[in-house]
Amino acid sequence: MLALSQPTQPQTADRRLAIQAIGLQKSYGTGASAFLALDDVSIDITENEFFTLLGPSGCGKTTLLRLIAGFNFPTNGQILLRGKDIAALPPFRRPINTVFQNYALFPHMSVAENIGFGLKMLGWTKSRCVDRVAAMLKLVRMETLADRRTSEISGGQQQRVALARALAPQPEVLLLDEPLSALDYKLRKEMQVELKRLQTETGITFIFVTHDQEEALAMSDRIAVMNRGRVLQVG
Ligand SMILES: Nc1ncnc2c1ncn2[C@@H]1O[C@H](COP(=O)(O)OP(=O)(O)OP(=O)(O)O)[C@@H](O)[C@H]1O
Ligand SMILES: [Mg+2]
Repeated sequence: MLALSQPTQPQTADRRLAIQAIGLQKSYGTGASAFLALDDVSIDITENEFFTLLGPSGCGKTTLLRLIAGFNFPTNGQILLRGKDIAALPPFRRPINTVFQNYALFPHMSVAENIGFGLKMLGWTKSRCVDRVAAMLKLVRMETLADRRTSEISGGQQQRVALARALAPQPEVLLLDEPLSALDYKLRKEMQVELKRLQTETGITFIFVTHDQEEALAMSDRIAVMNRGRVLQVG
């Protein structure tokens, strides 16, 4: 009797929400030249989830990440972090970090200095920085290259440093904008496994962007399929 009348719960019902986008709209430009890059996007991303935005070039994936990170403002709609509107928070006050497609490392600094840079900016004490950098080097398996300049390491190694740097301040949410697209096929496959391991080990919510369906399926808990500024399907 009971079993028959049990309602089907939405997938996210019993888990806490990390990020909620509610009716997000973003248009670039004004008047006749205005372009609607995001058109009424609503998604719920739960804590500890590997969530992927999948869609063709120009569909609005980076735009959505930039709104979540706070680099751009939505034209309409809301972004909630654990139930709270974060519109008023500048990027550096959001417990959210981004790994950019081009990594954006400091070439004149060592691997360790790159990883510790943001921590110093946040005012962490020297000894806390040192401990955290050591833990991050271990996490991404780069201990032996700690003192090497980032201009003198391989693409895959740069990728690891960028990840370590973004994970160092213990963000609640990590945004990854096509972070594997610069890597060759073999390294890409390896880094897919690596990323999944990092996400499982740290328990951080990952929002990952790709236009590669195979990559999305290999890594994600859930995928949002986007096209022309809209989310077509989540699952
Ligand atoms: N600053 C801007 N001014 C005007 N139009 C923009 C701006 N940034 C992005 N767009 C447009 O908005 C749309 C979405 O761009 P976005 O960068 O979000 O796409 P994307 O899905 O990340 O694509 P890709 O896979 O190529 O990185 C595109 O048509 C793009 O030309
Ligand atoms: Mg993009």
